[in-house]
Amino acid sequence: MKALVYDGPRSVNVQDVPDARIERPTDVLVKITSTNICGSDLHMYEGRTDMETGRVLGHENMGEVIEVGDGVDRVRVGDLVCLPFNISCGFCRNCDNGLTAFCLTTPVDPTMAGAAYGFAGMGPYNGGQAEFLRVPYGDSNCLVLPEDAREKQTDYVMLSDIFPTGWHCTELAGVQPGETVVIYGAGPVGLMAALSANLKSAAQVMVVDRHPDRLALAEQIGAIPIDDSKASPIDQINELTNGLGADRGCECVGYQAHDPQGVEHPNLTLNNLVHSVKFTGTIGVVGVFVPHDPGSPDKLYKEDGEVAFDYGLYWFKGQSMGTGQANVKAYNRQLCALIEQGKAKPSWIVSHELPLDQAPAGYQHFDARDDGWTKVVLHPNGSS
Ligand SMILES: NC(=O)c1ccc[n+]([C@@H]2O[C@H](COP(=O)([O-])OP(=O)(O)OC[C@H]3O[C@@H](n4cnc5c(N)ncnc54)[C@H](O)[C@@H]3O)[C@@H](O)[C@H]2O)c1
Ligand SMILES: [Zn+2]
Ligand SMILES: [Zn+2]
Repeated sequence: MKALVYDGPRSVNVQDVPDARIERPTDVLVKITSTNICGSDLHMYEGRTDMETGRVLGHENMGEVIEVGDGVDRVRVGDLVCLPFNISCGFCRNCDNGLTAFCLTTPVDPTMAGAAYGFAGMGPYNGGQAEFLRVPYGDSNCLVLPEDAREKQTDYVMLSDIFPTGWHCTELAGVQPGETVVIYGAGPVGLMAALSANLKSAAQVMVVDRHPDRLALAEQIGAIPIDDSKASPIDQINELTNGLGADRGCECVGYQAHDPQGVEHPNLTLNNLVHSVKFTGTIGVVGVFVPHDPGSPDKLYKEDGEVAFDYGLYWFKGQSMGTGQANVKAYNRQLCALIEQGKAKPSWIVSHELPLDQAPAGYQHFDARDDGWTKVVLHPNGSS
């Protein structure tokens, strides 16, 4: 089969690899119809992880079931399914508690929790930027999509990661109706956090970034765009909230946060949040941070993933914080129903739909945050 393979920093190629196949009775084999490029892929693409060369990337996948193992009861050949980026078993202690991002069965290393498709440090599983994908524990992992899924693929494919992840960020932040929310990052994840805050009836949603195309997408759904290249985002948010700060804050950037000049500071968005969220406010962090980052220009972060965090002010303000990968399965059914009923249309951020052989160009443009490249959906098996 054809697949997009990681070949080293800023180098990905479409090449022939062995076909994905059923390996265990509980597996499902999916012919991929849509698979996205994610900001998480860019950490790997840029060589900022220990991703092995030769691995197939892609963790935001949907497609048609073409074969099921003998032990699969629920999912059927012909079903259109969306796969959570987390590969979970559905029966371990964490899965039982809805914490499928921290599954204790699917990681190969027994000291680890959580696995994902085509992801550095998250198990040996190949990704879905390919013609076919093997889905372990298919009954548990496949979200079977409604009738209209084939026509609305660019909406439903967002259930694999970024829509539930944006929602998770607002859950970690504890967003309630009528509240004010500040979101750092207007990439796909930050925009989904803004959509989620809207769905939760937040009164005022403010989104910080410096890319006009991304801020414009935030504005399209009624959020207030805050350009941090024009003035301090902290000052702008304080001004909009009568000096109080926002009720809730969302971190949707991660460890490669940088200033508008492009210099990386892994503590920048965390500290900006402490300053722009109110006393007793809550902060959700879904932007990725890692325990080791040898490529970091920041001395502290490089060694052990440490950041110079404004802990004193954070404590003084009585804030709290929730972090981590999103438990996609905790939300994907419900968010699927919102798409089906026309109450959520996450595809508004999609800028490009490309065949698989154009994926390397897609990576290059999305990585450069080129103007107008806000979210790329790949179609490895033709247009539908
Ligand atoms: N927790 C999870 O389950 C999960 C899931 C998916 C993605 N992620 C992570 O979420 C993060 C965002 O993903 P994405 O796809 O939106 O990526 P992205 O890289 O496309 O978007 C990040 C955005 O942040 C902006 N930014 C950079 N520094 C900033 C700063 N100091 N202040 C404000 N904005 C700043 C960039 O301009 C960019 O638009 C990544 O770290 C990704 O790995 C986490
Ligand atoms: Zn992703
Ligand atoms: Zn599990």
